[in-house]
Amino acid sequence: MQLARILQSQGFGSRRECRALVETGRVAVDGSPCRDPEREFETESLTLTVDGVDWRARERVCVAMNKPAGYECSRQPRDHPSVYALLPEPLARRGAECVGRLDQDTTGLLLFTDDGALAHRLISPRKRIGKVYRASCRHPVTADMVEALIAGVKLRDDPEPVRALACTRIDDRVLELTLAEGKYHQVKRMLAAAGNRVEALHRLAIGGYALPADLEPGRWRFLEADELARLETSDR
Ligand code: URA
Repeated sequence: MQLARILQSQGFGSRRECRALVETGRVAVDGSPCRDPEREFETESLTLTVDGVDWRARERVCVAMNKPAGYECSRQPRDHPSVYALLPEPLARRGAECVGRLDQDTTGLLLFTDDGALAHRLISPRKRIGKVYRASCRHPVTADMVEALIAGVKLRDDPEPVRALACTRIDDRVLELTLAEGKYHQVKRMLAAAGNRVEALHRLAIGGYALPADLEPGRWRFLEADELARLETSDR
């Protein structure tokens, strides 16, 4: 594929903008500068360097972010900055979208991908891919609460009770909850229905992929093939 077209597919701008990037000497391929936008390359395991930053060419991307509090999962945020502002422009430009949403005050694992089929599988309640949350609660967590969350609680506007795939009391005021769905404010509403209140919420994992311990709040990283495979399993 021609270099300008490769750059375009990776989110570096329109074909015209990508041609200009190459012609002005801002691009190297596998470490060698290239000023010919029409030069052909195999895209498989190609490293592009743009303005001194290395990017491996990828057909599809999936990235994990450790979402900080105070960011909205929207491209048009209302009251807080957008999580998309924490991603480099090429990722946002190639159409990487968040997989489900977290509330502005929720922290932890947030995925972005431009692979629509993957996003659909991860979100679909029928696939039963667990989203694991740690909730700090205002009131003590009782055995009855844990039982109710597993048996199913009734949410307003929802005809059927909603149940957790798993629920574990971690300590007096903290529990871990695994959900198959991602309904609006689901954890907060479930905990309220069970007679408690969420004071802080953090997502620890999606499927078998846990938020990396060394990923600082606000930082992101690409998922590689083995990590992508883990997303669709349930063993962490
Ligand atoms: N449930 C909530 O209540 N909020 C989130 O951000 C995610 C799940």
